[in-house]
Amino acid sequence: MSKELFPGLELSEKKLKSVLIGCGEQATNLIHDAIAYMDSVEVVAVCDLNQERADFAARRFGLDRSYQDMDEMFREVEAQAAFVVMIPRLQAQIARRCVEAGLHVYTEKPLGTELEDIYALGESARRMNKKIGVSFNKRYALAYQDMKRAITSEGFGSPSAYIAKFIGGYRSTPTDLLRTGSCHFFDLGRHLIGELDELYAYKYEKAPGQHIFSVTAQFENGCVGSMVMGSMGSWACGFGMEGVEVRGDRNMVWADNGRDFTWQKPAKILNSYAEGASSQNTQAIAEEAVPVEITRPNYSNIGKLTQNNFYINGNYQCIKGFVDAVLHDGEPPVGYQDGLMALKIALAIERSVAEKRAVRISEIDGHV
Ligand SMILES: NC(=O)c1ccc[n+]([C@@H]2O[C@H](COP(=O)([O-])OP(=O)(O)OC[C@H]3O[C@@H](n4cnc5c(N)ncnc54)[C@H](O)[C@@H]3O)[C@@H](O)[C@H]2O)c1
Repeated sequence: MSKELFPGLELSEKKLKSVLIGCGEQATNLIHDAIAYMDSVEVVAVCDLNQERADFAARRFGLDRSYQDMDEMFREVEAQAAFVVMIPRLQAQIARRCVEAGLHVYTEKPLGTELEDIYALGESARRMNKKIGVSFNKRYALAYQDMKRAITSEGFGSPSAYIAKFIGGYRSTPTDLLRTGSCHFFDLGRHLIGELDELYAYKYEKAPGQHIFSVTAQFENGCVGSMVMGSMGSWACGFGMEGVEVRGDRNMVWADNGRDFTWQKPAKILNSYAEGASSQNTQAIAEEAVPVEITRPNYSNIGKLTQNNFYINGNYQCIKGFVDAVLHDGEPPVGYQDGLMALKIALAIERSVAEKRAVRISEIDGHV
């Protein structure tokens, strides 16, 4: 039974005894903050190869020591779940070791960077009957929540175009850009529109760490997609780094940098010339613009849970979905299949560039 402490913050009688593995930048700045707010999580141990980082996390959670060796921690500590915030190529492998040690696992994105690692994790999770949660927090980011609400509202029409842009700064390789950096935008496409069917991709590579991909795609429901992902921008720019736009039937919604959400509803039709349109050879309809709706969080009211970065970005809600699923024996709302599909889309893009042809997502190894 939960009791509300403040809006959005609940006291919980049930606690998920958890270990935190990986205490790097993302863990320290977002994930551990979010977990510290959750009464339903009891952190019983922390682990990082880097002792200073691990000790810092231990102090934050009131623990008198940290671990540098995961196996030692598994032997000495009794827990139900692990939160893995690891270097991307190790994430699925370490998640699997946690599952084999009897823990449910929540990982940062990407779930993994190699199909074999993800399949091996899936096989272990099925055998050990453990749940997997994945940090596709943008699904819960306030701007994208507003976008999803608009898209599914009456009168929006079925989505006709998904346009996504993610152009940040340096990434070590094109593989890192696609499999790790861009996976949020593959996942958002699936979340907002549906499964992707086929894509064709081009790559521009100026120098190592400086590349841009352009992808044309079609979703199974017919919606078309256009995605541009690159590393020739800047991590620090205020505008133009991340953008998502969805077109419906004369409706359009978009969000810049995962923040301001804008909804341009259909213009008012003043007069339809549809009958004589072909002879006029011009627009068939006279329209008048309607005001746009802009939703913007109130950053000045800093005393609320919803004004924290980890809430605006959706990390808190994504983690809570996993925690509630484990405590109440449900399915994590974002999990194994989502992590797998995001990697398959990245691999389809790589194959399309290499083979200069359209690639169906179903070509990327049907094994699940
Ligand atoms: N959701 C998002 O928007 C978002 C944003 C940034 C990063 N991330 C993800 O978070 C993850 C971590 O990124 P980061 O920037 O914090 O990286 P980081 O390098 O700062 O942190 C990784 C940590 O893992 C530790 N580590 C490595 N191997 C280990 C092992 N075997 N046992 C224990 N600890 C080990 C390292 O010492 C390091 O402290 C990545 O997967 C990244 O994709 C997600």
